This record gives sequence, structure tokens and C-alpha cells, in this order.
Amino acid sequence: MRVLTVIGNRPQFVKAAAVSRRLQEVADEILVHTGQHYDDEMSAVFFSELGVPRPSLELELGTGSNTEQTARMLTALAPVIGEHRPDVVLVYGDTNSTLAGGLAAAQAGVPVAHVEAGMRSFDRAMPEELNRVLTDHLSSLLLCSSDVPAEHLAREHVVGDVEIVGDVMVDVALLVQPRAREDDAPLRDAGVQAGEYVLVTAHRAGNVDDPERLRRLVDLLLALPCPVVLPLHPRTGARLDAQGWLDDLLAAEHVRLTPPLGYLAFTALLTRARAMLTDSGGVQKEAYLAGVPCVTLRDTTEWTETVDAGWNVLVDLDRDAALAALDRVVPEHRPMLYGDGRAGERVVEALVRRFG
Ligand code: UD1
Ligand code: UDP
Repeated sequence: MRVLTVIGNRPQFVKAAAVSRRLQEVADEILVHTGQHYDDEMSAVFFSELGVPRPSLELELGTGSNTEQTARMLTALAPVIGEHRPDVVLVYGDTNSTLAGGLAAAQAGVPVAHVEAGMRSFDRAMPEELNRVLTDHLSSLLLCSSDVPAEHLAREHVVGDVEIVGDVMVDVALLVQPRAREDDAPLRDAGVQAGEYVLVTAHRAGNVDDPERLRRLVDLLLALPCPVVLPLHPRTGARLDAQGWLDDLLAAEHVRLTPPLGYLAFTALLTRARAMLTDSGGVQKEAYLAGVPCVTLRDTTEWTETVDAGWNVLVDLDRDAALAALDRVVPEHRPMLYGDGRAGERVVEALVRRFG
């Protein structure tokens, strides 16, 4: 079986860490990196820390609007798929690299397998929602993290086969979190004590591209009553810089700005945080697994089970709601969601069964 896998940004490197090594034991995998994320701290560090095999091909297609990025990736991927004639193209998640990989494959008549299929925020203003919906409807094999996304797919009458395999990010988090919990160096580097700080990530276009919303985000962070560790995503850094608001955060004594962190340092900080504040998708799950209360800086989420379980609250950019959410008491019970840490194995098994 020949699998051509398309990855391109930070969460996809984490997801591929659960699949690629195992897949390469039983199949010929051509790992293509679109270059959507390209800084070492957004890309290379995940390959070295998590043992993701080196990409067979790096397309260096980062930057540009969603439309430009997707178009350039399509143009570059078509001949690569034509040259290798894989049995299947494997894509993860909901980014421009996901849609470009899926669409280029479908147009070449190659079946698509989509990991993390069926996730929905039902907010079509998010570029990720368009990418998810379109990729799902292009796919022959739709591999879901839990039964909620599988139900979405059934309601949408997708043509491909749907299978629940668990969540591949959970595989990686369950492996890394126990040792990250013992690693105090990242807390020392940030100058924080376990249980006393909040860890924050924010990068959604909907939160940082509109100056009015970006200002609300800054004001929310300035109002937090405890130390804040903020590893800055490049999109957010660029938007803050353009508005001259990076200085507001740099001047705040309780805010510790850092560059984007590697997975190990980030996970060390996550496991000991008082709470996680984020608009990331992956981080909501990881906070849940670590038993860290999550406050999500959005008004919708795809990871609804974490909200239903009482461990995640959606506050959008409402400062008072965020402050109230920080003080809430989380339930004692934290049911196992999104699988048992063996999703990567099931992804490989499903690919072999279908395309092997
Ligand atoms: C993308 C995904 C988003 C995902 C996120 C993960 C889409 C539509 N968005 O958003 O779903 O949650 O990745 O982090 O695919 N940049 C750098 N260095 C890098 C990468 C980016 O400086 O290594 C800068 C570039 O100026 C770029 C901007 O950040 O224009 C945004 O990057 P881009 O990949 O377009 O979108 P993200 O916001 O990262
Ligand atoms: N992450 C990281 N360092 C950081 C911020 C995030 O290693 O400074 C990891 C995080 O643990 C998770 C992934 O990056 O595994 C999430 O990526 P991101 O939030 O960029 O994307 P999303 O999940 O929102 O698409």
C-alpha cells in the first residue's frame, strides 16, 4: 500500500506523530509537508521532539490568504500525486493543507482518508469549518474521534465510509503528559509556580485579525488576576505588533510572553496550570486530558464533549465571563473521551483494511 500523507502545520505534526512511524512499518508512506508552518518553533521542533519521520518532500508554501494558500498548494500537490500514484491520500484536521491535499487527490481520482472527520462548529465564518465540511465530502474513509462527529456525518449523508477510531492527539498527550508533569524547567523558565498561573494561547483569525476583537483579547489578558504565560503564535504576534499593542502586554508585570513553545515545554506548562485559556482546538482536548479546567475564547467549539463534561466553558472574548469561569469548581468526574490512546493503531488498521 502506498499512502501519500499531506501535513503542513503545528497540530498536524502532533497528529502525524501518532500515525506515521507505525504506518511506515506496514506501508510505503510519502510524507509531504506543505510548509504552511515553517518557523523552527512551529514545525521542526515537533519532528525532533515527537519522532515524526522526516518529510519526503517540503513544498515551502507558507503565508498568504486562505484562498492564495489553498490555490498554491493545489497547484503544487497535483503533480506530486500524479507522480507517486498513491493508493490513498491521508489528511488530518481542518487547515488549508487538509483541504488542498483532499481536493488535489479527489481531482486526481485518488481516494482520500480524513483523520478527525466530522468535527463541526456550525460556524461557517471559520475557514476551518469550510475546510472540514469540504474535506469530509471528498473523502472515501472518514475516521472520527468519537461518536458525536460520526453522527454529524450520518446527518450530512457523506458518501465515504465512517469509522470511529478515537483521537490521535490523545495518543500523543497520554504518552507525553506523565513525564511532562515531572518537568519543572519550563515553569522555572517562565518564572511561575505550579497551580498559580494560567496558560494562554490565541491565534484564531476571528479573534486576532479584527482590531476591535484583538483589543478585547488584550484587555481580557490584562485583567487576569494571576500570572499569565502566553506563548505567542506568529499570527497573533504580527497583529499585536501592527496595532502597537505588544507593548501593553510586555509592560504588564503578570504577563510572561514567550515564543511558541515546543510540545514538551508546552505540555509541562499545561499540566501544572491553574487553568487553560485558549481558542485552539487541540489544546481544549489536551487540557481536559490533563485535568486542567479550560476557558475557551470562542462562542462555539467542535469539542462539545469537554463542555458537556463541565471541564470547558465558552466565554468568547467576554472579560467578566472569563474571570468568572476561572473561579468555577470543576466536577470530580472526568469521563474518558476521545479514545484510549490507541487511535493511531486504528487509523493504520483501517487504511490497511481498506487500501492494503
Ligand atoms: C493555521 C490554520 C488553523 C490552525 C493553525 C494552527 C488554516 C485556515 N488555519 O492558522 O486552523 O489552528 O494553523 O496553529 O489553515 N507564520 C509565521 N511562521 C510560521 C507560520 C505562520 O510567521 O511558521 C505567520 C505567517 O505570516 C502567516 C500567519 O502566521 O501568514 C498565519 O499563518 P497561517 O498558516 O496562514 O494560519 P494560522 O493562523 O497559523
Ligand atoms: N502547542 C505547542 N506549543 C505552543 C502552543 C501549542 O506545542 O506554544 C501544541 C499543543 O499542545 C497542541 C497543538 O500545538 O498539540 C495545537 O496547535 P494549535 O493550537 O496551533 O492548532 P489548533 O489545534 O487550534 O488547530
